[in-house]
Amino acid sequence: MRKPIIVGNWKMNKTNVEAKEFIVEIESYLNGNENAEYGIAAPYTCVKTCVDNAKNLLIAGENVHFEDNGAFTGEVSVPMIEELGVTHCIIGHSERREMFNETDETVNKKIKKLFKSSNIIPILCIGETLTQFEEGKTEEVIRTQLKNALVDVCGECASKLVIAYEPIWAIGTGKSATIEIAQNSCAIVRDEIKNLYGTEVASKVRVQYGGSVKPENIKEYLAQEDIDGALIGGASLKVESFKAIIDATK
Ligand code: 13P
Repeated sequence: MRKPIIVGNWKMNKTNVEAKEFIVEIESYLNGNENAEYGIAAPYTCVKTCVDNAKNLLIAGENVHFEDNGAFTGEVSVPMIEELGVTHCIIGHSERREMFNETDETVNKKIKKLFKSSNIIPILCIGETLTQFEEGKTEEVIRTQLKNALVDVCGECASKLVIAYEPIWAIGTGKSATIEIAQNSCAIVRDEIKNLYGTEVASKVRVQYGGSVKPENIKEYLAQEDIDGALIGGASLKVESFKAIIDATK
């Protein structure tokens, strides 16, 4: 039985003061709720504040470099974020792929680095553009992105992965994928993991849907066989809407 994992992705939002207020409120609201794992991916400037105030909430990074140190201005490394206390790290978000030259190859390096040097679990993001969707290439994109991201990643590591299927056309647009599309794509994700690693690993991997998830639609996504959680942008920024998401998953 896979436990759902619901993660808010704050992107480039929240100061330390705002982060503390949010985490303290949500922690007291969770009050030992163990129906799902709940987490927040925060900007590095406020990760320590989040970790210091979190008890049950998982705190994740939003990106990491694949080298330990060096001349990489503005980047942070795996040892640095491990010291901060993150348990998860988003890798390959479409915003990083589209705006910051993230490629399948750098995604693969980052995932291998996380597994080799830390206990931090990658939240691997994949998903097609609107054009690819309209051209019927979703399945091909999902399978290719997964294969490339997981080159030389062993089965034991892969079984710990969280994979977020986020169709780019549904991110921040308010236009979420239909339940059917989301389930279908998440099933393709699991099938590709089965092709790469076999049935046991595929049955352990948790697959999230992301793209305009909100309190009103999360329940239906989570009811699908192959959807084990959600990665949530906009609706994770306000305490009230994150509380409503928690309520919807009780
Ligand atoms: P929205 O929920 O704002 O569409 O963002 C989704 C996302 O990018 C989460 O990583």
